[in-house]
Amino acid sequence: MINKKILITGCAGFIGSHLSERLLNNGHDVIGIDNLNSFYDPAIKQSNLAAVTRTASAAGRDFAFYQADIRDRDAVSVMFKQHRVDCVVHLAAMAGVRPSLEDPVYYVDVNEMGTTVLLNEANKAGVKNFIFGSSSSVYGNNKKVPFSEDDPVDHPISPYAATKKAGELVCHVFHSLYSMNIACLRFFTVYGPRQRPDLAINKFTHLILKGKPVPVYGDGTKKRDFTYIDDIVAGVDNSISWVCADGGQRYGVFNLGESQTTDVNTLIALIEKTLYKKAVINYLPDAAGDVDTTFAAIAKAKNILGYNPRTKIEEGIKKYVAWVLSQSQNSAKK
Ligand SMILES: NC(=O)c1ccc[n+]([C@@H]2O[C@H](COP(=O)([O-])OP(=O)(O)OC[C@H]3O[C@@H](n4cnc5c(N)ncnc54)[C@H](O)[C@@H]3O)[C@@H](O)[C@H]2O)c1
Repeated sequence: MINKKILITGCAGFIGSHLSERLLNNGHDVIGIDNLNSFYDPAIKQSNLAAVTRTASAAGRDFAFYQADIRDRDAVSVMFKQHRVDCVVHLAAMAGVRPSLEDPVYYVDVNEMGTTVLLNEANKAGVKNFIFGSSSSVYGNNKKVPFSEDDPVDHPISPYAATKKAGELVCHVFHSLYSMNIACLRFFTVYGPRQRPDLAINKFTHLILKGKPVPVYGDGTKKRDFTYIDDIVAGVDNSISWVCADGGQRYGVFNLGESQTTDVNTLIALIEKTLYKKAVINYLPDAAGDVDTTFAAIAKAKNILGYNPRTKIEEGIKKYVAWVLSQSQNSAKK
């Protein structure tokens, strides 16, 4: 793919910062927007941004950062006026199922309004290509496994899931009205270096290291399709090629998962084995909004996008734990 200018929303977050680095290393220029909110420690986001800036400079590419809210129409419009954007990758969102139960109105505001503002301003600026970071949560408690893109997704069980389904719908509207090429990517529980602190693998690893109780909602038999960050950003990269390809109009919904499931008890056992440390598990009642299983069918993404995830959970956990340990060694040296 020839050099492109890619706008990444949520570029300071977990997935956004990795994607920014991958695209810069592949010869693209990146424009990033993020409001650096305090959903988790903004110092982590600053450190992610610093890594992206270092990568841009090593790769000799441009990285322009805007600290702004995606709901701020004026700020978004100015950004599109200042850069000739080839493709938008929209990852900024209030993420997470359980926190969305505490403030559903805010989740709707950021995720639905923010997505609509971006699509609208992108369209006004003549940007034709758009990728939306959706979520496996849209499948709700789908009983048919693995989950396929053709399965009905009309029964979300958390406000977060509903906002992601709504985002896919408004993407379809802009495709239909304005012929924008759009890929909605349903990410399945992403993990790896820089993973959000509210997510299980990060939380469990740090609690086990500290010898503190690990809270498990339910009996530990809930299953997730855990997807390694490198596989996700490779899939997003492939989707950029797909939406930006010459000719035709494209709209597609794709699962990006590893297509293997692991239950929470097995996950904890894997982290214990890698850390050589036993967990103290505190089993709690089921958490509202949590689905029982996620499991991605990935044939469509393989066939159309050339998506090819490679990281089995055993290998991914080893890499993640090695990263966590290297981080604590670095901070001990400071
Ligand atoms: N991590 C996962 O397992 C997972 C799974 C499914 C879907 N997703 C989706 O992928 C995307 C990225 O997730 P992540 O795990 O990297 O989350 P993250 O919280 O690390 O990144 C999101 C970024 O968006 C920014 N942001 C939030 N609200 C904003 C606003 N109003 N204006 C500007 N910036 C704002 C945040 O500051 C943050 O840096 C999200 O859309 C999320 O819903 C993630």
